[in-house]
Amino acid sequence: MKRHLVLGTVVLLGLGGYASDLFAEDQEALKAFATVQKVFQSPRCQNCHIPGDSPLQFDAGIPHAMNVVRGMDGKGAAGLPCATCHAESNPPASYGPHAPPGAPHCCLPPAAHKMAWIGLPSDKLCAMIKDRASNGDRDFAALLKHVSEDKLVLWGWNPGAGRAPVPVPHDIFVAQFKLWADAGGPCPVAQM
Ligand code: HEC
Ligand code: HEC
Repeated sequence: MKRHLVLGTVVLLGLGGYASDLFAEDQEALKAFATVQKVFQSPRCQNCHIPGDSPLQFDAGIPHAMNVVRGMDGKGAAGLPCATCHAESNPPASYGPHAPPGAPHCCLPPAAHKMAWIGLPSDKLCAMIKDRASNGDRDFAALLKHVSEDKLVLWGWNPGAGRAPVPVPHDIFVAQFKLWADAGGPCPVAQM
């Protein structure tokens, strides 16, 4: 029994060494992905990328007040669309904190593909970002364009009074996303 354990350990160590040689060139890309994950799973992004039907709010990610729900198309319930309160841009700073933030094409991904990544471990988050069946059929070029230019993404760096912006500068995020994508989008190995 003990000998098996020892043998098993030797084999595992050997495999580990082999794997780290094989994937050495991915190390930089995996490091870049760690920055991508930090952004995607920051409150300003993940509050909308959720499996449930109520958007979340605040850094603590509590369900949105007033029983607001996604609706089929992500634009809210028929009786209370998001646009009732959310405009195309943030209200002026003079409104103070707790004013509804605004961004063009607001709201949640549609119910049919929720693009939910809140709380996913890194390997699953990585797989989901690349999966064209769940990411709105975007290849790496389209994803890079989305994270570079999409107005809703950019809102994360200009979220309105009283909300902290995404904790990584936008240009660094985009550069790290590109580095990861250019390497073919390698994913971290599942954590046990
Ligand atoms: C107000 C809600 C909201 C916020 C906040 C938000 N998103 Fe999204 N996101 C959406 C919607 C809606 C779509 C679907 C848009 C489409 O298909 O064109 C989407 C789609 C995406 C996609 C493409 C789909 C996928 O699974 O890859 C990416 C990438 C993305 N968002 C990244 C971000 C990042 C990064 C942030 C934060 C900086 C963010 N989003 C903040 C609502 C939001
Ligand atoms: C009745 C008005 C109202 C409706 C309808 C409404 N919201 Fe809001 N929303 C607000 C207000 C007010 C805030 C700001 C709350 C605060 O900061 O105290 C807010 C904040 C938010 C935030 C910021 C969350 C964060 O990161 O802290 C998001 C995202 C959001 N709403 C999405 C939505 C979506 C998506 C819908 C439709 C499905 C929607 N809201 C419908 C009033 C509304």
